[in-house]
Amino acid sequence: MELKNKYALWTVEDSLAELAQLARTAGIEVVGQTYQRLDSIVPATFIGKGKVQELVDLHAELDFDVLIFDEELSPRQQRELEEAFADEVKVLDRTALILDIFAQHAHTREGALQVELAQYEYRLPRLTRAWTHLARQVGGAAGRGGIGGVGLRGPGETQLEVDRRRIRERIAHLKRELEEVRTHLRLYRQRRQREGIPVVALVGYTNAGKSTLLNALSGADVYVADQLFATLDPTTRRVELPGGQVVLFTDTVGFIQKLPTQLVAAFRATLEEVAEADLLLHVVDVTHRNVYEQVAAVHDTLAEIGVAEKPMVNALNKVDRLRDPQALAELVADFPDSVPISALRGHGLDLLLARIEAMLQENMVSVDVVIPYDRGDLVARFHEQGQVEEKSHTAEGIHIRGRLPRELAERLQRQTA
Ligand code: GTP
Repeated sequence: MELKNKYALWTVEDSLAELAQLARTAGIEVVGQTYQRLDSIVPATFIGKGKVQELVDLHAELDFDVLIFDEELSPRQQRELEEAFADEVKVLDRTALILDIFAQHAHTREGALQVELAQYEYRLPRLTRAWTHLARQVGGAAGRGGIGGVGLRGPGETQLEVDRRRIRERIAHLKRELEEVRTHLRLYRQRRQREGIPVVALVGYTNAGKSTLLNALSGADVYVADQLFATLDPTTRRVELPGGQVVLFTDTVGFIQKLPTQLVAAFRATLEEVAEADLLLHVVDVTHRNVYEQVAAVHDTLAEIGVAEKPMVNALNKVDRLRDPQALAELVADFPDSVPISALRGHGLDLLLARIEAMLQENMVSVDVVIPYDRGDLVARFHEQGQVEEKSHTAEGIHIRGRLPRELAERLQRQTA
């Protein structure tokens, strides 16, 4: 397939450029970058001995505080590398960096709990020294939750054992709290489902413009920022489609390549929104040089959470910045069900909504019912969630012919039988 050829692997340079952008998003100034091609990784330090020495020499020159690896490091590798720098440099990997950004951007209680849990789970196996070191590391936004300070030592426990025990306790506590929050969210979703309003979930690579699009579509004031992962929590808004049908649009966490499975699991609740949606609206930043790779990363993540088969509309976003019309034509040809838009300037939104309406309609069925006069609520619901094609007043009630989402149609048929 021709499309496949466009999904080249991320080059090392592309991936490092993205890592640098992530670092800047986390408030870190990038002073340099380097890479090494290896046939196999070195178990102790990930990179080779010579490369470690090169970095130690570079440290003497640039005096950097943090060294970030684009690949996931084992706890041992992280420790050995920090030792190579006589503990003057903090060694992180992509996962830790993404966790840190998540921590800064979690706005709701659920988001904050998820991130804190993921951070402690990441740190537990890496905890090898005294508490003070960890307290410093946890720092900032991640330091919430009140486990700072020195713990009371049990009989015969070393400080390290105390620290580990306290983190395990905190993890157990966070899990319980999260379960409570999730139960509430589930109830909320069940209620929404009972009402039968279709849900469209916005998905996309981080920074593609999902929040901007949600704002443009709904006039909502969702937080928009030129940063990676500005959105961590699902935000849901009601939007009216051209035919009058009301649908819910819900924003979700941005995806990124190499999103560790452990993180995907941590954001299960956010991703549940995606799993339960009737339609996915995939927002694509067509101006990004890695647009095809980003699309592939989104598809991979969707497959990982088992929703690759869901109907999807592609919003080809930021076309206001695209200079080459040929490139756009190619993208439109490459992506089925795509609509070029500019969320920022509000271009193409009518066409996008019309396409969404058409896709949702495929999930709708024709209905021909007579609703008794005392069930004005059902008539109102028909108008709001379906499309009324013909309406007349009869002796028995209001006769409506039109289309409704399948589930609602079945329920209506039962209620008016
Ligand atoms: P995450 O929260 O990281 O998942 O990002 P997001 O997909 O929600 O992106 P967001 O809406 O925060 O937009 C990211 C950046 O792209 C912001 O600086 C927006 O102003 C910009 N942007 C969004 N849509 C457009 C567009 O149509 N044209 C242009 N030129 N910029 C846009």
